[in-house]
Amino acid sequence: MTITVKALTEHIGGEVTGVQLNQPLSADMIEAINDAMNQYGMLVFRNQPLTQSEQIQLARSFGPLDMGLKKLKVRKDRLDHPELADLSNVTDDATGVVERTHKKIVGNIANQMWHSDSSFQRPGACYSMLSAVRVPADGGDTEYTDLRAAYDALPDSLKSEIADLQAEHYVLHSRFLLGDDDYTEEQKNVIPPVLWPMVRVHPGSGRKVLFVSAHARAIDGMTIAEGRMLLMDLLEHATQPQFRYRHHWQPNDLVMWDNRATLHRGRRFNLNQVRELRRATTLDINAPELTAVERELAHA
Ligand code: OGA
Ligand code: MN
Repeated sequence: MTITVKALTEHIGGEVTGVQLNQPLSADMIEAINDAMNQYGMLVFRNQPLTQSEQIQLARSFGPLDMGLKKLKVRKDRLDHPELADLSNVTDDATGVVERTHKKIVGNIANQMWHSDSSFQRPGACYSMLSAVRVPADGGDTEYTDLRAAYDALPDSLKSEIADLQAEHYVLHSRFLLGDDDYTEEQKNVIPPVLWPMVRVHPGSGRKVLFVSAHARAIDGMTIAEGRMLLMDLLEHATQPQFRYRHHWQPNDLVMWDNRATLHRGRRFNLNQVRELRRATTLDINAPELTAVERELAHA
């Protein structure tokens, strides 16, 4: 028995049937999912109730897990596993929604800017697996865009202009844009900015990727103004409707995306309504850009 995948749009997204994700996955099943990910960039699995431990187990079958923003220690964990990111607006006991001024709300809002998870660190993220527990009556969709189709559609002049450029990604850039700058010097420096080529090759498909993101704040070797404007133009290009898929959540949906080939963003919703999702993410420990030392550390 293997999976069936139905394309959701021309460029991005597949809806998968024929697998139960709360069970341990066979090597063949993992390969089938990897193949589908390499083709579609993101996959939707409906009706997949997962406990927190099951979600961790699922994610671990695709690689070592990422801690991402947790290194900043901005707030204490609500969930059972440090590797699970709390994408919710609920109180620690999950009985209500937090105040709009709560630190986690600005995090939710920052997620509404187009980004690739953990592009602010090396290694970055490979697969993100987001599980919906409770969803608002309306709003709160998540959108995805295909950075491979976006690269292909660039004019040749722009392709050659950016071929050898690198962008600087910084963890708090999108927070600062939202006026959220209340961090200690230590927190600001825990994850120093990193460079990524603006054109990367996606190992799973061999296709080129236009690697832009809300985390990118500068282009190496350019003035801030020129670099930032080019980044904004390229992000606008990469997120045109023809490259996108919009996911409308139902409880127990599991959506898996490849951060090496796609961007995503949350959409606005009524903050008085409960929205509760959780994410586990694998590290991109085989990224071809990693230095020998980075690779060794990542595999340790
Ligand atoms: C994420 C993310 C957006 C959303 O889980 O990494 O950015 O819609 N989520 O919650
Ligand atoms: Mn994200």
